[in-house]
Amino acid sequence: MTPEQVVLATKALEFVPDGSRIGLGSGHTAEAFLRVLAERIRQGLRVRGVPTSERIRQLATELGIPVDTLDGGQPLEVTIDGADEVERGTLNLIKGWGAALVRERVVAAASKRQIIIVTAEKLVDRLGSRGRLPVEVVPFAAPFCRWKIERLDVPGGLQPSLRLANDGRPLVTDNGHWILDCRLQPPEDPAALERALRDIPGVVQTGFFLGTASAVLVAENGGVRVMTR
Ligand code: A5P
Repeated sequence: MTPEQVVLATKALEFVPDGSRIGLGSGHTAEAFLRVLAERIRQGLRVRGVPTSERIRQLATELGIPVDTLDGGQPLEVTIDGADEVERGTLNLIKGWGAALVRERVVAAASKRQIIIVTAEKLVDRLGSRGRLPVEVVPFAAPFCRWKIERLDVPGGLQPSLRLANDGRPLVTDNGHWILDCRLQPPEDPAALERALRDIPGVVQTGFFLGTASAVLVAENGGVRVMTR
């Protein structure tokens, strides 16, 4: 864990009420939160966590964090998650570089609040500035989705490419799907682009998380800046 991740994770704990069920995000920053949370649980905090990936389920179990599911239909109190981009003005996000976007989106929607923890390089003036948008697709539909995405009327084109695992085969998500990584220039209307992508049969989820974040915690100058909408 880096010192920035520890400071972020410690601040995020302030958003976690005792006795609550919470969403556990994925990625390196979210993993740092898990380690800090586990320490707090050892000191007496009572929390159950719904993991957004199998990796996080395994790590939570190893760390002794009680793991829960979405059964029961009650909203989760809060989800603590990372992000790949945060647009300064809107707190809209791009997520999914870590391939956990579907469960992250479900758990965010099942939570009363989504708190995002990021280091400063994730902040952008315009969503899409870091140039990559993941789109999760059903493997059977992948060639069709790719063909349709290539033909969307987007400046520069989205140029989808299939994400590969280390063995050179398609990376398979926890949901048994594949990911098309799209080259992205900041779109004029991210919501319209998200709709166009989701309208393609076979697309399961895009990396756009528009309007989901309640607050973003940014590591800055040894401390944390809290950004709210
Ligand atoms: C996982 O699919 C992603 O959405 C992660 O939340 C995101 O990639 C942030 O990960 P890092 O904290 O590792 O940058």
